Amino acid sequence: LRDGPLLGRRILVTSGPTHEPIDPVRYIANRSSGTQGTAIAEALMSLGAEVVFVTGPADAPRPIGAEVVEVETARQMAAAVDAALPCDAAVFCAAVADWHVVDAGDSKIKKDAAGTLPSFALAENPDILATVSQGDKRPALVVGFAAETDDVIANATAKRLRKGCDWIVANDVSPATGIMGGAQNAAVLISADGADPWPLMSKADTAHKLATRIAEALQ
Ligand code: C5P
Repeated sequence: LRDGPLLGRRILVTSGPTHEPIDPVRYIANRSSGTQGTAIAEALMSLGAEVVFVTGPADAPRPIGAEVVEVETARQMAAAVDAALPCDAAVFCAAVADWHVVDAGDSKIKKDAAGTLPSFALAENPDILATVSQGDKRPALVVGFAAETDDVIANATAKRLRKGCDWIVANDVSPATGIMGGAQNAAVLISADGADPWPLMSKADTAHKLATRIAEALQ
């Protein structure tokens, strides 16, 4: 049974990668296990929230009890997010591919005996976080993520302003940290008040800390 400070709140969470087809058997994607997104959805529900979970093809199990919407591409994710609004808060955890292949066909591209390489044109995907942050169905609280390998705080602070969201949860994902696909996360919460670095903790604990902050902000 649902109870807690987020009871009666409807919160959108995006999670996982998106896959952008090149042809029916190949795609472009970002690395994302979906672990952090699932943990955030579960933490929000544990505080009483109703969660709409829009996910790309992620490995992580889907959060039990959420309204799960499965998508493949960024354009499908954008449409699913728009359909899920209005919400009280939105957490954009997905690692959305920045580009899609123009006119990805229904036939597999054949390897050419002469060694001629295929070429394809890319087009930009919609920036879902920026669109929602600046749109007329903007939730009261919009949280983005930033996976950075350098100058984490400076880049994430600039990203918060550029996208128009309220908070950015920034992670250092340089390979040495082992955060990508791992069980732990070291996050910095960037808000209008500045940068709040969190200690290294499990993705579940990161999710609970974020959910608690969201509950406080929506009070
Ligand atoms: O610009 P960048 O991809 O680093 O921004 C990351 C944040 O923006 C994440 O919260 C991600 O979910 C969101 N995003 C999005 N749509 C995109 C690209 C990123 O919602 N096309």
